[in-house]
Amino acid sequence: MAPFLFVTDLDNTLVGDDIALLTLNERLHQHRQDYGTRIVYSTGRSLTSYKRLQSKKPLLPPDALITGVGTAIHYNDPSTPDLEWQGEPDSQWSAQLNQGWDRDQIQSITAHFADLVPQPDTEQGRFKVSFYLSPDIAEDVLPELAARLKETGLSINLIYSGSQDLDILPQSANKGTALNFLRQQWQFAPQTTVVCGDSGNDQALFALGQTRGIIVGNAMTELLDWHYQNPSGDRYLAEAACAGGILEGLHHFGFLTTSG
Ligand code: GLC
Ligand code: MG
Repeated sequence: MAPFLFVTDLDNTLVGDDIALLTLNERLHQHRQDYGTRIVYSTGRSLTSYKRLQSKKPLLPPDALITGVGTAIHYNDPSTPDLEWQGEPDSQWSAQLNQGWDRDQIQSITAHFADLVPQPDTEQGRFKVSFYLSPDIAEDVLPELAARLKETGLSINLIYSGSQDLDILPQSANKGTALNFLRQQWQFAPQTTVVCGDSGNDQALFALGQTRGIIVGNAMTELLDWHYQNPSGDRYLAEAACAGGILEGLHHFGFLTTSG
């Protein structure tokens, strides 16, 4: 068997079926030990919020953690978990996101949109301004907000996820661009990279050419609609939910076999 780069979203993808998670953990842990497979979590959560989840669920220590929808990349040495997440996020990636980004200007524009409810402070980041926005008005509010931001010449990326979360990010930030940055550093080919997800902010992972994709069985309509409109043989739609769907997909692509 060959090493692969395993990348997964957390909420409702890796996490959501506790029993299947334990089985998947065992397989991935073994594969990492035997073949040098790398494990990456890519989440919308901040580092603080990731740590909260980590204290509640049996998550394997990943080799890297991409937080805030691709806005920060943190590295970890799984053999010394005590030192976990002490360092600063990747400075080269941060420098790239900083170009053309003006957080204050974004906030002065969003302040005029009464329907945008700010998320807690822990979920705001240097390169991420996040709100709650209810789905019944999102269709009206999003184009208006995009137009206002564009008028001021700001190049940003608006991502609406889970029918409730709105993230405003630098134009070049999403889960896909952050993964590409990491993949090239670690020199994994797209064909030996597999990404897993369930919702809108995972779409950028599935849009990376040739990368293998697993959409879990419980995926949200916002992601499924895009998947059906942009079909690809590199993508597998699992029947099982969460970690069970990931296991199914890893077998489908031959990253795991029944014997090893
Ligand atoms: C996570 C984050 C939140 C973000 C959402 C969608 O829930 O905590 O800030 O808006 O993911 O990306
Ligand atoms: Mg999710």
